[in-house]
Amino acid sequence: MSERRPVIAANWKMHHDHLAAIRYTQELGYRLSGEEAGRLDVVLCPPFPALRSVQTTLEADRIPVLLGAQHVHWEDEGPFTGEVSPPMLAKLGVRYVIVGHSERRQLFGETDETVNRRVRAVVRHGMTPIVCVGETAEERDRGGTVERVRAQVTAAFEGVPAAAVASAVVAYEPVWAIGTGRTPTAADAQATAEAIRDAVGAFAGGNAGAGIRVQYGGSVKVGNIGEFVTRPGIDGALVGGASLDPEEFARLLRAALVG
Ligand code: 13P
Repeated sequence: MSERRPVIAANWKMHHDHLAAIRYTQELGYRLSGEEAGRLDVVLCPPFPALRSVQTTLEADRIPVLLGAQHVHWEDEGPFTGEVSPPMLAKLGVRYVIVGHSERRQLFGETDETVNRRVRAVVRHGMTPIVCVGETAEERDRGGTVERVRAQVTAAFEGVPAAAVASAVVAYEPVWAIGTGRTPTAADAQATAEAIRDAVGAFAGGNAGAGIRVQYGGSVKVGNIGEFVTRPGIDGALVGGASLDPEEFARLLRAALVG
């Protein structure tokens, strides 16, 4: 893996209530060796109702895993029924926030503009955004992958200071690879990750391009994670289905280190 510190994040999506989340976190804690935590940022992104439970479990059992959220609003407070604000997450010890997942873009009206608002708010509150980008099958078929991810990444970081861009994370998740068991080849994913890095370098400067971490996401499993994360330019993974069981996720973390 690269000189950038890899980050492997579990996106539980809408799975696990707070009791299941506590059991999961304890179980993962037993199974993690110091090596994973020493070499990787391991991040758990539970649904909102489980954040506090996971946070207290991590703290009480001194588990070297970081807390992430799956979504956030951009305002600090106000009349936004059902929303959760960046300072609320920051106060809970949340370090990473997933922004612009394709499920939110497709099902909940997320746009490049609202992604940008959320990214700026996350950065303003000292947390690290995991900005999700990726092409649809149709865009890929007509050769539009690089154009699509470049536009998404450029819009997401508009107005964000270069230093914050340098420490941010982009998850390259082809929409057609999410939950399907299909993936691009590792060489393909690497080429797109490099295009993302080049785009970041072009709008935020060379340091930001060199520093930003680009994950691969979409049907990552124990059996294929090594192919992706050993590629230069791919700095970890965003994992959905294969992160739902703590034993499987621990195996996946080990497989990432072995390569
Ligand atoms: P799967 O790993 O289940 O394909 O999901 C990927 C994803 O969307 C992670 O954010």
